[in-house]
Amino acid sequence: MMRYYIVFVSVFILFLGACTDSTAGDADRHDITLAHNHATDHPVHASLEHFKEEVETNSDGDMQVTIYANEQLGSEREVIELTQTGAVDATKVSAAALESFRPEYSIFNLPYLFESEDEFKEKMNDPEIANVLYQSSEDIGFVGLTYFDAGMRSLYTADRVVESTDDMAGLKVRVQPSAASVNMIEALGGTATPMGYGEVYTALQSGIIDAAENNLTSLVSSRHGEVADYWIYTEHTVVPDMFIMNKALLDEMSDEHREIIYDASDSANEFHEVVWAEATREAEDVAQNEMGVEFREVDKSSFIEASQPLHEEMKQDETMAPIYEMFRGEDDEAN
Ligand code: GCU
Repeated sequence: MMRYYIVFVSVFILFLGACTDSTAGDADRHDITLAHNHATDHPVHASLEHFKEEVETNSDGDMQVTIYANEQLGSEREVIELTQTGAVDATKVSAAALESFRPEYSIFNLPYLFESEDEFKEKMNDPEIANVLYQSSEDIGFVGLTYFDAGMRSLYTADRVVESTDDMAGLKVRVQPSAASVNMIEALGGTATPMGYGEVYTALQSGIIDAAENNLTSLVSSRHGEVADYWIYTEHTVVPDMFIMNKALLDEMSDEHREIIYDASDSANEFHEVVWAEATREAEDVAQNEMGVEFREVDKSSFIEASQPLHEEMKQDETMAPIYEMFRGEDDEAN
């Protein structure tokens, strides 16, 4: 089924390319197809629009970017596969979706890896750290260009109050389709139900799941706040959004165009910092005052304690131990 879908989308995109490619014959002109799964009022869309503007202006129109929002070209897994083959040129996906392509990305689903968002940013803004992730997928067809801060993820429930891991027993929590997300919720005491982002609203409304976990902006942008009574500040993970591009496309560009792409990505990352902070503040207000979500602080100690076995496992894993150390550095020596 998935294979047919990919063939269908690839043919559709080739068709679009044929319609818009007035530049055939000029090797250094590119029509870049960019996909993501958020609504157009989400800050990620604004940041990608910024990227588009920078690329088009700085290349004097030699590079054009077309953005497909709202999962129009498929789920995160599907658009990653399309980016691998080059049917889609670039996409923004959650780091959790990349984990089944490159295990290194599972680091972000380790609960309480970072103490704060600032700590997360400090690490991700260090090129020596970020480049390890960005280059990890070079041999499978794509590379990372930059990341977009997606804040801290917390739990939200249809109608149950959660005060400690004891209250997680029997709670069916939607997680992203990733093994590390499942392990994370199971370690915290809940029952993990993996499903795509687009299915969460109905699942929460109809009782297929009792809860989900995400950042505040997505709670509001996806309108999950309409069907969730409580937001519980567990702040268990910081899972960034990753901006990736087909490697062959980058390789075939002139040095000048490649530099424009990288500069526009850095600029979009900085632009995102500002719109993200604003959107998070606004989302808190809308969720509480328009959607009627009750916000609850929680004592995190039982959650932090329950996540320790996952930290231990990661330290023992051959692939993940260096990544864990890269993010935790010497801080962890004391633990
Ligand atoms: C975040 C992220 C999305 C992801 C979603 C999810 O909102 O930005 O890319 O799909 O989480 O929980 O699936």
